Amino acid sequence: MNKTCWGVILAAGQGKRLSTATGGREKQFLRYQGAPLWWRSVLALSASPRIHGLALVFPPDKKTEAEAEMRSLKKANPPGVPLVAVSGGVRRQDSVRLGLAALPRDCAFVLIHDSARPFVSTALVSRLALALDDTDGGVIPGVAVSDTIKEVNASGAVARTPERSSLRAVQTPQAFPLELLRAAHARAEAEGWEVTDDASLMERCGHTVRVIEGDMENIKITHPQDLALLSEAKPALPCCGYGYDVHAYGGDRPLILGGVTIGGPFLVRAHSDGDVLLHALMDALLGCFGAGDIGRLFPDSDARFEGISSVILLDRVLSLAAEAGVRLVHADLTVIAQKPRLAPHAETIRRNVARLLDLPLDRVSFKATTEEHLGFTGELRGLKAVTLVTALR
Ligand code: CTP
Ligand code: MG
Repeated sequence: MNKTCWGVILAAGQGKRLSTATGGREKQFLRYQGAPLWWRSVLALSASPRIHGLALVFPPDKKTEAEAEMRSLKKANPPGVPLVAVSGGVRRQDSVRLGLAALPRDCAFVLIHDSARPFVSTALVSRLALALDDTDGGVIPGVAVSDTIKEVNASGAVARTPERSSLRAVQTPQAFPLELLRAAHARAEAEGWEVTDDASLMERCGHTVRVIEGDMENIKITHPQDLALLSEAKPALPCCGYGYDVHAYGGDRPLILGGVTIGGPFLVRAHSDGDVLLHALMDALLGCFGAGDIGRLFPDSDARFEGISSVILLDRVLSLAAEAGVRLVHADLTVIAQKPRLAPHAETIRRNVARLLDLPLDRVSFKATTEEHLGFTGELRGLKAVTLVTALR
């Protein structure tokens, strides 16, 4: 028995209910996962071994453009079945009829699918195609409704309340024997029937259509609030930045750490204000997004940075980080100095850095340590700072 089955993917609508929200763009052409929305259905349907080819129905005036995009997407990610582009019609049922006309002679079954349902699963496609074996008139997916449904008359009065347990909200793909569906569409044309899905035509022709379990996720992008489902929030990547800086004593700048003036006898040699802690912190921040270091950003050959407060430089670095999409999470700061004793200033420095970074206090840590009289800090020739920042990008 010939079981050749094609899919018809409808992408010829105007998306009027969404046009204000999309700026007039037809919803099937919105970008989703790096391709137009209709491509998502191509991938889902073609991945089923039961599908042997796909006809894509586009608006007549956009067909050439869409077909070119189809070819390039196909080249980059071959769906493994033939794809045919067709011009659609004014009403959905016209687009279906035109799609059916484009199917090959040996095709026996067809699945009609709305490209506005991008979340269709390959499993559902295969379930439908498989169920065609035990049906005469067609198989469609449906889900139980959670709202009570009323039938109302033109003035809004309730005419009838159908028993909810017998109701199903039906979706696409809808699967049919091709010749029966073609005949149903021909009859609809001849008799002027207007329908919103293909199963309705088959029902009117007296065929039995069976409903199988659909998918709750297989929703149709219809109203502006559905667009949120297409927004792809990219997961933030954690990143760390490390900073290290040294300043020699014996200069003319009073000691400043983390924007806090410590003062005292140890004067620092520097071009800017010589805040070794903020310098190491800025380098750590720049390290989070590969932006080089403060030497490159604020060269000491530039007179503009002579004696400048490092708080101003930090502000600039924070703006660059924000522009690069970096969101600071935590900072761990250590100053290494034999003298002066920093413990009395530790909490003030920590609070000030938290304020400068606009972080809650419990996400900033400050430590001071010595090198036990060893090395250049031990010999009171200078001091250094190391910092580690964590951020999300
Ligand atoms: N469709 C089509 N040809 C038409 C009308 C609709 O191919 N003449 C397609 C749409 O592209 C959509 C599917 O049929 O994938 C379901 O239709 P619907 O959700 O109503 O989409 P639109 O008609 O585009 O939207 P609207 O009714 O809001 O204008
Ligand atoms: Mg419509």
